[in-house]
Amino acid sequence: MADLQVRKLCRTFSNQNESLTILDQLDLDLNRGENLAIVGPSGSGKSTLLQILGVLDKPTSGSVELEGKNPFELGENQQAKFRNEHIGFIFQDHHLLPQWNVLENTLLPSLAFSRPTPTLQQRAKSLLDRVGLSHRLNHLPSQLSGGERERVAVARALLLNPTLVLADEPTGNLDQENAERIGELLLEVPKEQNAILVVVTHSNDLAKKLSRCCELRRGKLVDVTGQIATGPLRS
Ligand SMILES: Nc1ncnc2c1ncn2[C@@H]1O[C@H](COP(=O)(O)OP(=O)(O)O)[C@@H](O)[C@H]1O
Ligand SMILES: [Mg+2]
Repeated sequence: MADLQVRKLCRTFSNQNESLTILDQLDLDLNRGENLAIVGPSGSGKSTLLQILGVLDKPTSGSVELEGKNPFELGENQQAKFRNEHIGFIFQDHHLLPQWNVLENTLLPSLAFSRPTPTLQQRAKSLLDRVGLSHRLNHLPSQLSGGERERVAVARALLLNPTLVLADEPTGNLDQENAERIGELLLEVPKEQNAILVVVTHSNDLAKKLSRCCELRRGKLVDVTGQIATGPLRS
C-alpha cells in the first residue's frame, strides 16, 4: 500500500437546484520521497483536491489514507492534531500573520499544541537559513517582498517535518526569479526529509521540474508526465 493512497474520491457541491461533481472516483498513489505536479484548467477542482488531501475539506465519498490512517475517520480534535503533525500546507497567498515576525510565523504550527521547544526554535532558524531568510528573523511580513513571504510559508510548512507537503499555486504571484527559487526549495527540502510533495501549478517550468505530472480532467487525474514540454498548459 502506498504511503498516500486515495481511492474512489468524490467531492460534490450541492445547492437546492443542482449538484456539481468536482472530483469523481479519483485514485492516487504516492510514496515518501515522490513528488507530483497537478495541472488543469481553472475550476477543474485542483484546490478542492488539495484541500481534501490537506484535511481542510472532506470527501463526499471515497477514502484517503496517509501511512495507513484515514484522517476522516477521526474526531475533530484528533483530526486537527493529524493535520498539524502530518501535513504542511503552502497557500498561494502565504497566510502569514501580519503582527508576528518571520521566526514566530515559522513556529506557528508548533504553537497549536505546546510552546516551541529549543529544538523546534533551532529547526525554525535552520529552515529559515535554508530559504535564505536568516537575516530577517525579526521582520514582519509587511517588511518582506512577496517572494520572501512565500519562502517563510515554505519554512513554516516544513517545521514539523510533515509526511505530506501540499502547495497550491505557490509561485502564482511571483516574478520568474522568485518563482524559480521557490520551485527549487520545494523540490529540495521535502526530498531531503523524505516527504511526499504535491504541487498545484499553472507554471510549465515548475511542473516540468517534478517527477510526475497529472492533469485534473473531468474529476480524475490523468498522467501527462513528459507531455508538458511540448506546449503550453491549457488553462
Ligand atoms: N464550497 C464550494 N461550494 C460550491 N462550489 C465550490 C466550492 N468550492 C469549489 N467549488 C466549485 O468547484 C469547482 C472547482 O473549484 P477549485 O477546486 O477551486 O478549482 P481550481 O483550483 O482547479 O481552479 C469550481 O467550479 C468551484 O466553483
Ligand atoms: Mg485553485
